[in-house]
Amino acid sequence: MSSIQSGVGFADLFPPQSDTFTSIEAQARSVFSRYCCKELRTPLIEFTELFIRGIGTETDVVQKEMYTFADRKDRSMTLRPEATAGVLRACIQHKLLRAEGLVKFFTIGPMFRYERPQKGRQRQFHQINVEVLGSSSSLADADVLFMLDAFLTSIGLTDLVYEMNNLGCAHCRPAFRQALETYYARVARTDLCADCQRRMQTNPLRVLDCKVPSCREITQDAPAIADHVCAPCREHFDQVLAMLADTNLQVRLNPFLVRGLDYYQGTTFEVVSNRIGAQSSVAGGGRYDGLVRQLGGPDIPGIGFACGMERLAMLVPALDVKPPDVFVATAGSDLLPKAALLAKALRALGHVVEFSYEHKSLKSQFRTANKLGVSACIVLGQGGDQGVSIKNMATGEQHDCPEHDLPACLAKLFAEHKPSN
Ligand code: HAM
Repeated sequence: MSSIQSGVGFADLFPPQSDTFTSIEAQARSVFSRYCCKELRTPLIEFTELFIRGIGTETDVVQKEMYTFADRKDRSMTLRPEATAGVLRACIQHKLLRAEGLVKFFTIGPMFRYERPQKGRQRQFHQINVEVLGSSSSLADADVLFMLDAFLTSIGLTDLVYEMNNLGCAHCRPAFRQALETYYARVARTDLCADCQRRMQTNPLRVLDCKVPSCREITQDAPAIADHVCAPCREHFDQVLAMLADTNLQVRLNPFLVRGLDYYQGTTFEVVSNRIGAQSSVAGGGRYDGLVRQLGGPDIPGIGFACGMERLAMLVPALDVKPPDVFVATAGSDLLPKAALLAKALRALGHVVEFSYEHKSLKSQFRTANKLGVSACIVLGQGGDQGVSIKNMATGEQHDCPEHDLPACLAKLFAEHKPSN
């Protein structure tokens, strides 16, 4: 019978990559907890309406990339393409938002976008997502960026660039939009790609970050948003930049950074690496002050970010995966149940232990133990009155050890073989 493969863009995660994911997630949980940010788990499937209203009808995500289907009651459902809309929906639904004070949540898990798969781009990918709701202060923007930096630094990523832009607000953006429309109408508008010709009608800002070379060329001389933002927007963004200047974050202003989701305004950012090819953005985020209200909640501002775990995993230094401590070997098949009970007892003491479920020669068991990289083998059926001995796998020495002394003997052996760093 032919075997069944996973779909294109849907990857299996197995060791060592799954170990890397686990370790990245552990770091995220540890760092975010220091920022008083708690975990929120939302469903993978939501009503389609949530993403249309949240992300915007004209975005590529909503237009082309959502996995949408009718459920058995013919309701339109969608596999979440991002986490922000679901987190806000949950906060509104369960009245988690406060009129005063901050609400901070992180979410870790799979997202789904029907994109063309390539290195660093999957159809099912994983995000570590943070949302901070309840403050429009520039300190919130800075603190969210500090949290992102603390997390990325904790996993060993220190050579990243923070691209930043100020997208203005509902008051100043219409004038900028008008300036863009005038500019693109004046230059050869028909030279824009088909998507951008559509974007000109729906959201001209998106033309700014189109990657098609002809659009890029035309955009080079387009009006800069920095010349159009209102005084409060400029002041807010300048305050954020001033705070970042007091850190070692590598910041680069990018006037063409618009982001692919329509809810952003004010501070927006993408963290990029030059080590992972075309899909260089490892994290992206920004402020989305009108979004909670747009989703039917109170008028509460927010800012957040999401990191792509596949891209982080490509960048983190190789993990030092710890081998098991002990292998319990047996000199006879009748000793297998005793090996299982001993392994159970040692695991309860905190040791990482392996043994064979099948009877094999001692030579073969030592070979397995060596392959696993254990420091010690406990051999049942060889040595002393009780027939228990310990073999130091680094030196090959084997000596008797009464069973009740095993934890002490192991501790001594491990102490002798502690890595020197
Ligand atoms: P986003 O820029 O669409 O933002 O995605 C954030 C990150 O997810 C990207 O920088 C990238 O690392 C990763 N990513 C996106 N698509 C893929 C893919 N197809 N394959 C692999 N990785 C991918 C958001 O999703 C916003 N919700 C972030 C946010 C939270 N803004 C405010 N709060």
